[in-house]
Amino acid sequence: MGDFVNLPASSADAPRRVPGHLAIILDGNGRWATKRGKPRSFGHIAGARTLIRALGWFAERGIQHVTVYAFSTENWKRPAREVASLMRLFSTLLRHNLDILVKNKIRLRISGRRGDLPPKIQKAVAEAERITAGFDRQLIVCVSYGGRAEIIDAVNAAVARGEKVTEESFQNLLYVPDVPDPDLVIRTGGEKRTSNFLLWESAYAEYCFIDALWPDFSERDLDDALSDYASRNRRKGGIA
Ligand code: IPE
Ligand code: IPE
Ligand code: MG
Repeated sequence: MGDFVNLPASSADAPRRVPGHLAIILDGNGRWATKRGKPRSFGHIAGARTLIRALGWFAERGIQHVTVYAFSTENWKRPAREVASLMRLFSTLLRHNLDILVKNKIRLRISGRRGDLPPKIQKAVAEAERITAGFDRQLIVCVSYGGRAEIIDAVNAAVARGEKVTEESFQNLLYVPDVPDPDLVIRTGGEKRTSNFLLWESAYAEYCFIDALWPDFSERDLDDALSDYASRNRRKGGIA
């Protein structure tokens, strides 16, 4: 099946199905910090470190596309201090961690209403996307992303062209139209909801809900989710 790739031969396990596209709702940073008596921004920094570590785990397992939900259209309503600390963090990551993407041959793409972002960050995003554009493996970071906003933006683009849509032409109006649908969506932090993530794209995704708060997400948690995924029977409306 086209949407699966095999684990590299170096893996200890026998080859098994891994998702071609893994999407993660990075939740629990705030609670992680609060539990330690620290400001929520401390949790976001810890969460960023976990993501950087996890990029290597994803690559080792042969996962081709990874999408992470970093900031939703609804997250703008958080206290201005928290929003500002998150924007500073994105800016720092974009300026100082590009080498990690280049070293791991990862193409960075931002999905969301990028016009909502401060102009300086928009510029840094465009630069990072340009520098990493030649790589095949992709990291899609959803920032100022909402599944409803994405659908509305696509509908409005179709209306502006005076077009009726089909599933295929609608797909082409999404933020990252050429990326295949996610096979597996993991949400950390214990909540069992989508919170407006990839509403269109995850129509036939498998879900794993993990209690670990995102900064504590481990290689073991990833492998547990991948084993669970490998055991699922994805019928997609057909029969086994
Ligand atoms: C997820 O962690 C990251 C963002 C939404 C920016 P949270 O900040 O939602 O952490 P909790 O869920 O409050 O613990
Ligand atoms: C979802 O987490 C959004 C991101 C992880 C970026 P939230 O913490 O914002 O979602 P709710 O409020 O628990 O639904
Ligand atoms: Mg949360």
